[in-house]
Amino acid sequence: MEATPYDAISRLYDPWSRSVTEDVPFYVEEAGRAGAPVVELGVGTGRIAVPIAVAGIDVIGIDSSAGMLAVCRERAEAAGVGARLDLRQGDLVEPPIEGPVPLVICPFRSYLHLRDDGERRRALGAVRGLLAADGRLVFDVFTPAPDDIAETHGRWLEREPGIFERADWDTDARTLTLSVRGRDGEARATMSLAWLSPLEWRVLLDESGFEVEACYGWFDRTPFTGGEDSIWIARPARR
Ligand SMILES: C[S@@+](CC[C@H](N)C(=O)[O-])C[C@H]1O[C@@H](n2cnc3c(N)ncnc32)[C@H](O)[C@@H]1O
Repeated sequence: MEATPYDAISRLYDPWSRSVTEDVPFYVEEAGRAGAPVVELGVGTGRIAVPIAVAGIDVIGIDSSAGMLAVCRERAEAAGVGARLDLRQGDLVEPPIEGPVPLVICPFRSYLHLRDDGERRRALGAVRGLLAADGRLVFDVFTPAPDDIAETHGRWLEREPGIFERADWDTDARTLTLSVRGRDGEARATMSLAWLSPLEWRVLLDESGFEVEACYGWFDRTPFTGGEDSIWIARPARR
């Protein structure tokens, strides 16, 4: 596969996302409920997959970035769970996995890398085909609020010490061009994300053969009542 923007920042990703911890126990709990193997789409550096493996559950991790997968491998080895992770380079639109599996997760908004409804339908359809009849798809996405857009648009902000992030929002196209760079400027990348409303995600899930079991507004399982984050638990529809 070709190099991706994440390859350029694979060593910056963990310090960049250091403060993002609230979702880890949530996904580990979901994995504990479902059992192995858990498929993580967009596994990245193993921020979620490694804690799941440490909890004793095997994970198949898919990512398009060879660089992110290399960091993930190192992290799993360092945690003593290298044998529990099966890492595969591939596209989350067509994950290279044979089902059935009890749980597919796509944490930290990775589905926002899907560019249009065609890709979203293919990705959700692929998961539908992979899941066991009583399996679950669990993922989180965000829908930016106008004040967030106004506050951050076009500005380089220091997200972590020495790590800068810039958001360029296109509210007509509903895309975010996200740039990140380290202090020395050597590690830098620009990536594109596309957002939907929660209602649009619900319709796509329905059209892709899923029933929504729960939609939370936060990882403490507070029900979604509006807000930027939505966390979805979907299961194959019984029709
Ligand atoms: C925001 S990171 C999330 C990483 C990890 N799940 C976490 O929670 O920290 C998004 C990940 O998705 C991967 N990714 C983006 N587009 C992809 C695609 N089309 N197929 C596979 N992986 C993709 C990136 O390489 C990156 O590792």
